Amino acid sequence: MDQIRIVGGEALNGAIPISGAKNAALPLMIASLLTDETLQLHNVPRLADVALLLRILGNHGVDHGVAGKRPGQTPTTGQSIRLRARDIIDTTAPYELVSKMRASFWVIAPLLARMGEARVSLPGGCAIGTRPVDLLLMALERLGADIEIDGGYAVARAPKGLRGGDIVFPKVTVGGTHTALMAAVLARGTTVIENAAREPEVVDLADCLNAMGARISGAGSARIVVDGVSRLGGAEHTVLPDRIETGTYAMAVAMTGGDVLLSGARPDLLQAALDTLEQAGAEITATNEGIRVVRNGHGISAVDVTTEPFPGFPTDLQAQFMALMTKARGTSRIRETIFENRFMHVQELARLGARIRLDGDLAYVEGVRRLTGAPVMATDLRASVSLVIAALAADGETTVNRVYHLDRGFEALEHKLGQCGARIERISQS
Ligand code: EPU
Repeated sequence: MDQIRIVGGEALNGAIPISGAKNAALPLMIASLLTDETLQLHNVPRLADVALLLRILGNHGVDHGVAGKRPGQTPTTGQSIRLRARDIIDTTAPYELVSKMRASFWVIAPLLARMGEARVSLPGGCAIGTRPVDLLLMALERLGADIEIDGGYAVARAPKGLRGGDIVFPKVTVGGTHTALMAAVLARGTTVIENAAREPEVVDLADCLNAMGARISGAGSARIVVDGVSRLGGAEHTVLPDRIETGTYAMAVAMTGGDVLLSGARPDLLQAALDTLEQAGAEITATNEGIRVVRNGHGISAVDVTTEPFPGFPTDLQAQFMALMTKARGTSRIRETIFENRFMHVQELARLGARIRLDGDLAYVEGVRRLTGAPVMATDLRASVSLVIAALAADGETTVNRVYHLDRGFEALEHKLGQCGARIERISQS
């Protein structure tokens, strides 16, 4: 298995191109199951999760083509993928695949909407919390589906098609909202989704579905209304920039000091995180090309954060922010409210010299003057990248193991950081 080796202490200076968002690309790709025409997606990041989802969709009958290299492209230029599900040949998504990537459970909605049935493995446990799918299944039931659990599979049936209904989520769920949208677009009649997730990735999915002929209004607010249509067609859509990748590199610059342009980034996608970084002492400027992050001279201040659904501070940046706070002046309190077990990075940061105390959903991070490199590993991709951020500012050498987590969610990480002066390399073990 590959490792990433980092020698800390270098400031970051230059430009980092921001890729298309993983968490937008995945539901957009799944939406291709809703039509027998071609869905063309641009700015799709080159990630292990994207490759795995292509395999999963292939099992259901989706053909795909990835456009070849074009003049002027770099290793970080997003790819264009054409997806076509002319015929759905299999409505079962097996355990071996769904257990590798939870988001693939969402195929249940388009398969059910288009074919009237779906048999999708329950995803099972996860490193960051229990992550049940009860609300996704509730949403489908509200649209008339019969659901039973059989042999570890959720079996959903709606032989006469889905019908519009009212879905009230008791808790904000991104996957639940994606699922509800993909089911409701082909249901007969009107669906109202209350307490919908407002995440930009939900808006991106709704925009793409509308381009395919759906009638969705209110995406981005807590109330989404969907008027069902009888069929969807093809479309061409560009994946929005990755706000979590943006925030991650912004935190890396705040950690090391320096001056970096995050090109293609959109500040409106992560305003809460940018505000927090400013409070911590980074200078953030929106430019025509993206977001410029500067920290020179003065140190980092401790800031408290609480993770929340969008537009609040995202859980997917909690680990990275904690890494930054390990070197802040003072003690920062970081509260995780979305997932109950998303502190697996704490003991690994401690290996680098961080002082963190956990109390339920709260982490007390007492800033230290110095971190020192060590071998570390992590259990999910955001935790892994938090170790990279800490390592960039640690004295000496850190090796990050289990790099496949990083490859799931960060395109060309070592290339992007290396171009800005970080001493970082991948060591292939094969
Ligand atoms: N929840 C339930 N029941 C459900 C669904 C969710 O109780 O049926 C709970 C979850 O256990 C969690 C909360 O609701 O406590 C929110 O979960 P949500 O459904 O919003 O998460 P998700 O859709 O499974 C997506 C992202 C995650 C991100 C969360 C929250 C993708 C592929 N995944 O997950 O991203 O953390 O939203 O913003 O979009 C990552 O990229 O590293 C990642 C984990």
